[in-house]
Amino acid sequence: MCGIVGYTGAQQASPLLLEGLKKLEYRGYDSAGIAVVKDGKISLSKVTGRIANLSEKTDGGRLLPGCTGIGHTRWATHGAPTDTNAHPHVSNDGRFAVVHNGIIENYLELREELTEKGYRFSSETDTEVIVHLVEMYYAGDFRQAVMKASARLEGSYALGIVCADEPDRILVVREASPLILGVGVGENFFASDVTALVAYTRNAIYLEDGQFAELTPHSIQVFDCTGNPVPKKISRITWDIQAAEKGGYEHFMLKEIMEQPRAVKATMAPRLKDGEIVLDDLQISAADLKKINKIVITACGSAYYAGCAAKYAIEKLCRIPVQTELASELRYADPLIDERTLLIVLSQSGETADTIAAMRECQRRGARALAIVNVVGSTIAKGADWCLYTWAGPEIAVATTKGYTTQLTVLFLFAIFTARKLGNLDETEYARLLGELKGLPKLLQQALDMNPGLPNLAKKYHNNHSMFFIGRNTDYAVALEGALKMKEISYIHAESYAAGELKHGTIALIHEGQPVIALCCNEAITEKTMSNIVEVKARGAEVLAVAFRDNQKILSLADDMIYIPRVEQIFSPVVEIVPLQLLAYYVARENGCDIDKPKNLAKSVTVE
Ligand code: G6P
Repeated sequence: MCGIVGYTGAQQASPLLLEGLKKLEYRGYDSAGIAVVKDGKISLSKVTGRIANLSEKTDGGRLLPGCTGIGHTRWATHGAPTDTNAHPHVSNDGRFAVVHNGIIENYLELREELTEKGYRFSSETDTEVIVHLVEMYYAGDFRQAVMKASARLEGSYALGIVCADEPDRILVVREASPLILGVGVGENFFASDVTALVAYTRNAIYLEDGQFAELTPHSIQVFDCTGNPVPKKISRITWDIQAAEKGGYEHFMLKEIMEQPRAVKATMAPRLKDGEIVLDDLQISAADLKKINKIVITACGSAYYAGCAAKYAIEKLCRIPVQTELASELRYADPLIDERTLLIVLSQSGETADTIAAMRECQRRGARALAIVNVVGSTIAKGADWCLYTWAGPEIAVATTKGYTTQLTVLFLFAIFTARKLGNLDETEYARLLGELKGLPKLLQQALDMNPGLPNLAKKYHNNHSMFFIGRNTDYAVALEGALKMKEISYIHAESYAAGELKHGTIALIHEGQPVIALCCNEAITEKTMSNIVEVKARGAEVLAVAFRDNQKILSLADDMIYIPRVEQIFSPVVEIVPLQLLAYYVARENGCDIDKPKNLAKSVTVE
């Protein structure tokens, strides 16, 4: 979950590396460093904290001359976030420097072996073994040394390595961690993701697991793990630069919340043709769909909660049982999965380690996997049997917003598409549901505009140590995501409860002034949730209810209201989450939190 970048060309490398690292800072931001090669020497600069500190220390990179270099922004796994543990790590002879994203699982035994051979370690990281291995295997051939060193590594790694003897050469290696090469003219790049490359080139090579590449200013060569050349496949990056910038908003998160009507439309529009849902990338026959006896949805974090929210729509329309499983649990659960299971894998980044492992485990047991992913060419997108992309554009804020709503959009498309193929929807109902779906971008815009009082509500509620989010059915699923948003960015303890469960324990925690966010958008059972509101109010709770604008009954019960426009019940989560994202945002802003980069979190969790 760290970010790595590299550059070789005619320009000074350090300022470019710093720019690239800024784009990757969402991947980890506890320490950072760069290493640059010049005149047979590697110069290094490392700091604890943000890229801004590194930029200050190096005067925007100007203090480190040289046209070939590598950079790193860290999310600590092995060893505290300190200057010494920050990457790049340098070999004892000063000849090599390495940046690494991932985890070397056998580092302890390698460290022991290398220590016995006399190599001195200066950090507590797993990464440092790599650079000493390269030094140990170096006999004048840089590439050979990197290949031999990599063959000793177990775990996940995307590596960028420079050598003082070869000032215009970078070696990169990919194994179970994202790594993309940027193809320029007279200059070449590598990075953990395309956001760091788009300012310089739109031509990218997505390395596969087990591949190496050698970059010079004028060439890129790709090899397999035995050193045989592999043909290069250059893909076009379609994301534009503005999409990866704040565009006048104070935070990426606010920008991304506001982009949701557009992102949902972009996800849906290409798949609605002449009154039909067309899922070109899901080539599955009605006969094969009929064989499915269970759908398992797996993911982590918000993506998992998107699965929880969509389960109701899929079950209601398709009449196939849907099981939602946290990927970190599923991968070790000895799951009851076979060829009649359809696995749906949700991931914004397409690189979440637990989700990848859960997908592979289920595929091994015979399930076919449909991935719903935002990042083109990511590991999950490539490893799944089918992939439906969410066309949300780059999501930079660590806490996902448009990633979640676009995942829901694809899941709703899938639910209607499958139900129709299974013969569960007649022509009229199919057309009605498509009409409702098409209306979602407009309703999302209304949900964004409907609550100008949210900043004031945040002023009222921000000073609390805990909040409860309650709801039933789809409202409960939205409560899960609403509470996660609140805790991720505002650091307020927020817990979601199925409203009916309150009396089985949680109600003991309700006291005078305790905020309870009550979600009441599933009108078939709102009466029940209203009873729960009465129960918590009787014990002193301050209730902030979320309901349709014209719902007068709730208005008379709650202390404060958040409104959403009326929406088809099974699709309501996509609209209902919007004001809760904004509430979390404004509360976090009141509390002075670092909204785009919450403490201890990283966006792309590529380690277990
Ligand atoms: C991290 C992010 C979350 C995200 C989760 C899963 O925890 O902070 O926003 O929901 O990872 O990520 P994925 O990329 O697989 O959707």
